[in-house]
Amino acid sequence: MTVTASLTRHPEWRALAAHHVAIKDRHLRDLFAEDPGRGERLTAEGAGLYLDYSKHRVTDETLRLLLALAEAVGLKARREAMFGGEPINSTERRAVLHVALRAPRDGTILVEGENVVPFVHQVLDKMVDFAESVRGGSWTGQTGKPVRNVVNIGIGGSDLGPVMAYEALRFYAQRNLTLRFVSNVDGTDLAEATRDLDPAETLFIVASKTFTTIETLTNARSAREWLLAGLGGDEAAVAKHFVALSTNAAEVQKFGIDPANMFEFRDWVGGRYSYPSAIGLSLMIAIGPDRFREMLGGFRAMDEHFRDAPFERNLPVLMGLLGIWYGDFFGAETLAVLPYDQYLNRFSAYLQQLDMESNGKRVTLDGAPVDYQTGPIVWGQPGTNGQHAFYQLIHQGTKLIPADFLGFCQTLNPLGDHHDLLMANLFAQTEALAFGKTEAEVRAEGVPEHQVAHRVFPGNRPTSTILADRLTPATLGALVALYEHKVFVQGTIWNINSFDQWGVELGKALANRISPELAADADPDLAHDGSTNALIRRYRARRGAG
Ligand code: F6P
Repeated sequence: MTVTASLTRHPEWRALAAHHVAIKDRHLRDLFAEDPGRGERLTAEGAGLYLDYSKHRVTDETLRLLLALAEAVGLKARREAMFGGEPINSTERRAVLHVALRAPRDGTILVEGENVVPFVHQVLDKMVDFAESVRGGSWTGQTGKPVRNVVNIGIGGSDLGPVMAYEALRFYAQRNLTLRFVSNVDGTDLAEATRDLDPAETLFIVASKTFTTIETLTNARSAREWLLAGLGGDEAAVAKHFVALSTNAAEVQKFGIDPANMFEFRDWVGGRYSYPSAIGLSLMIAIGPDRFREMLGGFRAMDEHFRDAPFERNLPVLMGLLGIWYGDFFGAETLAVLPYDQYLNRFSAYLQQLDMESNGKRVTLDGAPVDYQTGPIVWGQPGTNGQHAFYQLIHQGTKLIPADFLGFCQTLNPLGDHHDLLMANLFAQTEALAFGKTEAEVRAEGVPEHQVAHRVFPGNRPTSTILADRLTPATLGALVALYEHKVFVQGTIWNINSFDQWGVELGKALANRISPELAADADPDLAHDGSTNALIRRYRARRGAG
């Protein structure tokens, strides 16, 4: 194993560490007082998104040092390697080309000498034909009825992307279609998703990159039984009611889905980066091909911004560096993502997989353990709901929680003064978090002495604000690509592989071992630890009880 020079020994890193000691106690109140123009200066724009990063605990010197770090670790070369189709996913020896999914039809991206862009557009065209036929009612089920219900069965990237984007773009969805998403192997998920549906009008989309994921295949098998039970048991119905989205044609066929009803993608698309691929079929059916293409256009605009904009005005680069500043120098462990838009209610859940599965790594590309913090815990939920739940801790707790606030200047559902109120809350929160309220200010309000300490807000809580005009398909694409590339920037600096996910394997293997132990008629010989053995015995003894 080659042990590379640690990131923490880079002169740029050391300079940042020294700078951190010098400025860590500086307050945003003072930074703004000294430089009132920073609210307009520390901003950047790209692909229709406006980023205000002035409410961060940074000076011009901090930014200069962070940008120097990005240069020193070779971010430009690594970015070019990704866009150029090089196998930067080194453990799996694969290219990382989600950017090819949104390349223009006449684009060229070579993977081992093959231009993959024509393949991408061939699949998109096939998706368009299919989506049109479902939306227009010409795709009919076994009994001749048009499809009214679309159920996506998938998990992880084969679920979170489609469901997040469907929720985000629901405003644009064809409302006579019911979309449902089943992911959990808990039978409740499928049972609740199908209980009020007519099998004759239901299409199942089985989404799985590998087509070996146990949760998805278990749900798909049960869905097939449900369908056949409802349609009189004729196996031929499967061809009219099941399609597959996968890279694995052999397994799709083995499952019994006609390869003609399979929409393909390739192994250079990671699961958590896959919803602009065939994995987005349910979304395309819901919002239509034109809107889907608009969304790809938004992704592309951010890809181009990431590739072309100078680092100091480059949104993913700036956001990536700010995350490193807090995680590695201030010791912040989490990032809250707080969208002030109800349609983005699954956005943080989606980002959890994107960020945590990508950068939740403990060794460098060479296999050497890191001696610095890597990916943050990502969490959050829509705007004002969070304010009445967990914001207390962000304002007055003992933990430093950097947060991204997302908002839109125009609402899709104008209703009285709702939108102004919503946005007033967003602006108020970032102001309160940055500037807080001093003891003197609290006293000046005539607060009783025994409450003063409790009503002080220390402030100096850092936030980014991302504003866009309107939540359109293009805006969503740009927003997702922004976070994808932010994750890339951070993974590059940490020198880790953001594109594998070995950390999910051990649990899968153990579940495969435990599953027959639960199914066995006779008490199995258990060779786990004392706790696991006892839990399995208790479950076996009690599952039939009550
Ligand atoms: O959780 C591990 C994982 O491999 C994710 O990376 C992936 O998105 C998910 O499982 C589902 O995998 P598949 O699409 O192959 O069913």
